[in-house]
Amino acid sequence: MKLFVTGGAGFIGSNFILYWMKTHPEDQIVNFDKLTYAGNLENLKEVEKNPNYSFIRGDICDVLRVESAMQGVDVVVHFAAESHVDRSIMEPSSFVMTNVVGTQVLLDGALKNNIKRFHHVSTDEVFGQLPLDSNEKFDESSLYDPRSPYSASKAASDHLVRAYYHTFGLPITITNCSNNFGPYQFPEKIIALAITNVIEDKKIPIYGDGLYVRDWLYVEDHCRGIDMVLGKGKVGETYCLGGLTEDINNLEVAKKILRLLGKSEDHVSFVKDRPGHDRRYAIDWTKSKKELGWEPLHSFDEWLALTVKWYQKNKDWWRKVKSGEYKNYYKKQYGD
Ligand code: NAD
Ligand code: TYD
Repeated sequence: MKLFVTGGAGFIGSNFILYWMKTHPEDQIVNFDKLTYAGNLENLKEVEKNPNYSFIRGDICDVLRVESAMQGVDVVVHFAAESHVDRSIMEPSSFVMTNVVGTQVLLDGALKNNIKRFHHVSTDEVFGQLPLDSNEKFDESSLYDPRSPYSASKAASDHLVRAYYHTFGLPITITNCSNNFGPYQFPEKIIALAITNVIEDKKIPIYGDGLYVRDWLYVEDHCRGIDMVLGKGKVGETYCLGGLTEDINNLEVAKKILRLLGKSEDHVSFVKDRPGHDRRYAIDWTKSKKELGWEPLHSFDEWLALTVKWYQKNKDWWRKVKSGEYKNYYKKQYGD
């Protein structure tokens, strides 16, 4: 089988390629990535010489390049996106271009090339926010209510993917997944940012009161979930994937990281809140368990500790990342 992976140089995409080449070594993978600030081919050093792996630098908005790169492909797994909420507040247009227009270009390319499956990787953020202190969770029947330019652009892309199924019969599947953590995460997202800041003896910036809740999933569980959707998922269906955390707020996550690194709680700095900040996410993944046999296997505490160790061991990787374009972004977002 030949897979066309978009955004394979990013956090989840690169973890997915490493996972797939281990678990399905007979398959071929084409990694199609623009290499924005978030794309990093160093994540894929382990597989770059594998004859079943190839890389094409390209923009998913580039119609001709997408159409020709997709020739001979069986399955598309679409990760490429602008993925950071704070950047979407600073500059929404690139989110609309990549996440909406780019997805539509890929869908057209998939139709022209008779792709057997188009899998779209999406987020729980399309469903909006849940109240604190409630048992409510998002599932496949939750209504769309995106509240940031990022989640609005992902919601639009989900609608387009479903429209291509209903209108043109394109064989699609979608996963809406909760917040991921693990190796190779760009240190603008809270867990990677917190770990690397503390190792550098800087503070962890916590927005607002810190009582915001995310549902945390270890990235390998996400990759296995996509694998199971490709293998057992029904065409036209959506599957929600989420973790094992029960309402851990950002402040608690920060404190866990500080404990793991032997630092005091003085390393927390409360900063100005994010506008439109979603209060709480939680995912009910019953359908994925029932229909695919998928469930998250990695507990948060154990894999947070291993993730901290990974960032301690791989300082060269994130120091390079933190010294580039990211420096300007950090200054703009957090001041000096
Ligand atoms: P990321 O920002 O780490 O990586 C995005 C990748 O896409 C980068 O390699 C970048 O170079 C590439 N890219 C961006 N614009 C492109 C374009 N126009 N053409 C080609 N490539 C382009 O993102 P991530 O955290 O790995 O997220 C991957 C996908 O998973 C996204 O679609 C995101 O919405 C979704 N998702 C992420 C999370 C999470 O917690 N990170 C949770 C649920 C869903
Ligand atoms: P983030 O990692 O940006 O993911 P998302 O916004 O997609 O959920 O943020 C996770 C949570 O951490 C979210 O509630 C915002 C909060 N956060 C902070 O408190 N400080 C920060 O510096 C960042 C980046 C996020």
